[in-house]
Formats: sequence, C-alpha cells, structure tokens
Amino acid sequence: MSSVKRIVIGISGGIAAYKIPLLVRLLKKKGFEIKVMLTPAGRGLVGVDALRTLSGNPVFLDDSLTYDMDHIRLAEWGDLFLIAPATANTIGKIAHGIADNLVTTSALSFPENKIMIAPAMNTIMWQSKATQENCRLLSSRGVCILPVDFGELACNVSGEGRMIAVERIADAVTTAVFPQQILNGKKVLISSGPTEESIDPVRVITNRSSGRMGAALAQEAITCGAEVTVVSGPSLVPLPYTANVIQVRTASEMKTALEKEFDTCDICIMAAAVSDYRPAHVSETKIQRTENGNMIIELVPNPDILAGLCRKKAKQFVCGFSLESGEGESRAREKMERKGCDMMVFNRADQALGLDTTSVVLLGKNGLREEHLSKSKNGASRAIISKIAELCGFVS
Ligand code: CTP
Repeated sequence: MSSVKRIVIGISGGIAAYKIPLLVRLLKKKGFEIKVMLTPAGRGLVGVDALRTLSGNPVFLDDSLTYDMDHIRLAEWGDLFLIAPATANTIGKIAHGIADNLVTTSALSFPENKIMIAPAMNTIMWQSKATQENCRLLSSRGVCILPVDFGELACNVSGEGRMIAVERIADAVTTAVFPQQILNGKKVLISSGPTEESIDPVRVITNRSSGRMGAALAQEAITCGAEVTVVSGPSLVPLPYTANVIQVRTASEMKTALEKEFDTCDICIMAAAVSDYRPAHVSETKIQRTENGNMIIELVPNPDILAGLCRKKAKQFVCGFSLESGEGESRAREKMERKGCDMMVFNRADQALGLDTTSVVLLGKNGLREEHLSKSKNGASRAIISKIAELCGFVS
C-alpha cells in the first residue's frame, strides 16, 4: 500500500500521557502522518511543544485559536483515531456519546471501526463494572480496545491497569491500518439478506434478516484484498461501493445468480436467509378477505441452494450459516455435513437477528470448533474471513 496513513492521537488525563511523544516518534519513523489533540486534563501531563515538534503539526486543544470544526476536519483527515492514554472517564463518556471536549467530540465524529483505545488507569477503576461494561459496549460497536498491562501504577501500587508499551501500541496501529491482504487476487461470492416470495401482488413471505452480516463480510473480504460479488435479497443495509452487487428477490432468482457466479469464485459464503418455502400459486390479483373460515396458503419447498452449490464444488471453499433458535450447535454441524460445506457458522437467532452484535461458533471438518462471543458484526466477519483464509491455506 503506497498512500501515507494518517493517525489522530487523542491524549486524555492519565500519567502515561508523558510517554506519547515517544509513541509519536515511533509512528513517524514507521511513516505515518500524525496530528495530536489533548483533553484539558491531558494538557497538564505532557508538553505541547514536544508533541508539536515531533508530530510536525499543530497540536489541537479545546481553546485552540485555530478552532474550525476541528473534530469534523480531523475525522475526515484521519485513517485511525487512537486515544492513548484513555482514562476511565474518557472511555465512559465515549461509550455513552458524551462529547464535552475535543477528544470526546472527535470520538463521535470518527466511524467506530476507526477508533482504537489504549486504556490506562488504577486497578480498581479498570476492574470496576462500569469501566468493564463501557469497554464491552464500545467493543461490541466495533471500537478496538487494546489490553492493559500489569505493573507499577502511578498510585504506588502494582496491578492491572497500566497502558501497554508504546511499541505494542505502534504495532497495533500498523496492523489496524495495513490489514493483511490475505485474499489478494481471490474471488469471493457472498449471498446476503432475506429472500421474498410473493403470495399476491402486494403480499410476501419473508424473514427478519437485515443483511448486516453479509455487508460486514463483504467489507472484510474487500479489506483483505478480494474481488467481491454480493447476491443480495431485499435489504436496506448499504453494501460496500467496491463490491459487485446483484440484487434479487426470490430464492429461485438467488439460486440462478449464485450458480452463474459460482464457477469462477474461490470462496462462497452463504449468509442469506433463504426462504425454505414459497406459495404453490401466486395470485394475480390481491386476495380478498373472506368473512368466515381460515385462509390456507399451500407452500412448496424451495431448492436448497447451498447443497446444490456444494455438489458443483471444484476448487471452491464453501461456508454456510446456520441460525438456530435454541441450543442448535449439533444441528448446525449435522447441516454442514448433510449439505457438504467446508465450514458452518452457527449463531443463535436471539443473539444475531436484526442486532449489531452476534456470537458465532465456527464449525469445520475434523472437529474444528472456534467460539467468538458478542462481537460486532465487523469483528465476527474478521474472525470468519481469517479462519476461511487459514483453512484455504492463503495465510503463510
Ligand atoms: N440455505 C440455502 N437454501 C435454502 C435454505 C438454506 O442455500 N433453501 C442455506 C442458507 O443460506 C444457510 C444454510 O443453508 O447458509 C443453512 O440455512 P438454514 O435455514 O439454517 O438451514 P435449512 O436447511 O433451511 O434448515 P432449517 O430451516 O430446517 O433449520
């Protein structure tokens, strides 16, 4: 990747703030462009002149004379917003959308998946339910929360809560902005969203799939360098601009589109919630209400698209999704074997449908089982794509 990456660093009022000039130097050496901002509490703990000299840019403060919608401009400018050190107070405010200084206002202006937080605080504050829940909340929205270290703290005790070494932060920043291109040159085919089957000109049978998982998988595959085609049922979730999108409505349209694309793909991920049945007859006119008796709609089965694709498999790696309403892990594994796919992602309906987060279990051949709890759909996609790339042998 050739373009220079830009990092905005927000310093809040933890004593570890004194280490940030060194971090700025490390990141500059790695070729990043840096702009720094300080909370009022952070300002007393580190030299503004040192930060300006090392970053080569003005330092942004709340009372900055140059203030010109800085939070918006910096969010447009930066590829990543790193908050280091992040105090319990700053983490709490960001988790709850409170924007009362330049750092917290900027956190609202950056997309959550471009925010990285390096916490630093006293052990009891770190372990408090409030801080832990705030970190979990931020993580479930896609914010990257770095771990803390164990060691001597400013309050003269030893324990968990120290900011991790600046070298580790610099590595984490590099990995976040230069993700591995593990799918370079590969073609990934993804089905996404619900399908819709007509009953009459105005009524349909569909399901509550939002298409968010498919969109997140597509974004992740693109980030990893793949050429991505998404066959999407009716969904309002925007798909990445660089994906080739084929819009379909019914299961049968989805089957036709996927079969056409399948031969040339390397990886196929069936994240769509395909309607298992469709009405045997579609009325040409709107069905009228009758005063007595029940309405019976006869349904006929739709083909199993995933099983059909697996029968055509040559070089392709095929991954299915198994959404179950209860404890359905063994059903998910049984489905993987019956349909003939290489991997099955098991998730529970109450932990996934229509939500931003999901808990997934990745099931594969030879007893492979990997659990990822309460992740943002982006985080879950990262885990799924990495595992597929590893099983395909694309990761060295
Ligand atoms: N699937 C498919 N074609 C169908 C039904 C499902 O390709 N007609 C795919 C889904 O996209 C998913 C996987 O099969 O990747 C499992 O879907 P699921 O609905 O859990 O499985 P079903 O076989 O429909 O089993 P059931 O609904 O009885 O749980």
